[in-house]
Amino acid sequence: MKYVIAAAALLGLCIQAHAATATRGGFGQLADGTKVEAVTLSNGAGMSAKIMTLGATLQSLIVPDKAGHKEDVVLGYDTAQEYLSRPDYFGASVGRYANRIAKGKFSLDGKTYTLVTNDGPNHLHGGTKGFDKRMWKIDSVSSGPDAKVVLSYVSADGEEGYPGELKVTATYSLNDRNELKLEYRATTSKPTVLNLTNHSYFNLSGNDARDVMGDMVTLHAARFTPVNATLIPTGERKAVSGTVFDFQTAHRVGDRIRDARDQQIRFGRGYDHNFIVDGNAGTLRPAARVEDPVSGRVLEISITAPGIQFYTGNFLDGTYFGKGQRAYRQGDAICLEPGVFPDSPNHPDFPTSRLNPGQTYMNTIVYKFGTK
Ligand code: GLA
Repeated sequence: MKYVIAAAALLGLCIQAHAATATRGGFGQLADGTKVEAVTLSNGAGMSAKIMTLGATLQSLIVPDKAGHKEDVVLGYDTAQEYLSRPDYFGASVGRYANRIAKGKFSLDGKTYTLVTNDGPNHLHGGTKGFDKRMWKIDSVSSGPDAKVVLSYVSADGEEGYPGELKVTATYSLNDRNELKLEYRATTSKPTVLNLTNHSYFNLSGNDARDVMGDMVTLHAARFTPVNATLIPTGERKAVSGTVFDFQTAHRVGDRIRDARDQQIRFGRGYDHNFIVDGNAGTLRPAARVEDPVSGRVLEISITAPGIQFYTGNFLDGTYFGKGQRAYRQGDAICLEPGVFPDSPNHPDFPTSRLNPGQTYMNTIVYKFGTK
């Protein structure tokens, strides 16, 4: 009997040691009084992720460095209201269509749809009030080997000009192997187009201590989609080899970012391009790796989407003050946004962004952290 109890206690300890926990709490309120909730997922390996209901946003992500120091590796704000007032999509779930749609126009089954143009001549990140600015609902919160939160949002037929009522869920889960998994799912009542992604700004130095120019980046992509001056794909799928877009082996971000001989760098003010991830879309496969040689933090991203937007925070100009009153400046972060290609609704030969009733849209992203 004694042994049985001892064995049971040991088993209990083991289970506990491998459990990740989800804790529900508040994250203040918006100027109009709307209360914002947050769920913190924590594991036994020192990582924790805070997700808030406004925008199903990854508000903070604490990750240990090689010495075990736990610091925040994503940009953001200290208060929920700032996420609404300052449009940089920090950590947000972006939709209905992440990235750009040329001139805010597309057609589906012979009907033309007109969306707001909120980025020069183009539509960007779902419009004036995209999913990043909506209140999501917490459907469930659970602890266990995977600490998990499921958030949902119902986008009305015609919202921001898009057809169909869209029911969306975002599921964040964290395990003890330092993998934060994010799954977007959606169904629609009418044929529509969509591209859901997460817009986290990673800065692996911790608490935005340094810019990301020294980070080593690998992108598992032999080709990318060049853009015009307004960052709309030209339609070409260009080989990266021999260009400043070749990250097939690790390169410092800053090494070639000022190479203005490449018109694409001029158009993007640096990197702001969709890379075509090698392998089969729909299969979870490695897309990118980022390493900060100073802190030793390493981030590996696996995705199911066909592409990933690599953006180096080129529009951050120091006017926005983020967490801890840090001014965010150009080159302070790396965004890696998995999705279909920009402007897909206007490029019939790009992987489709169309969703029909009866189908389920899926986009899975795994962010795995480690140290070197
Ligand atoms: C995306 C775009 C960028 C920029 C940011 C938000 O990553 O590709 O051009 O609009 O979002 O500022």
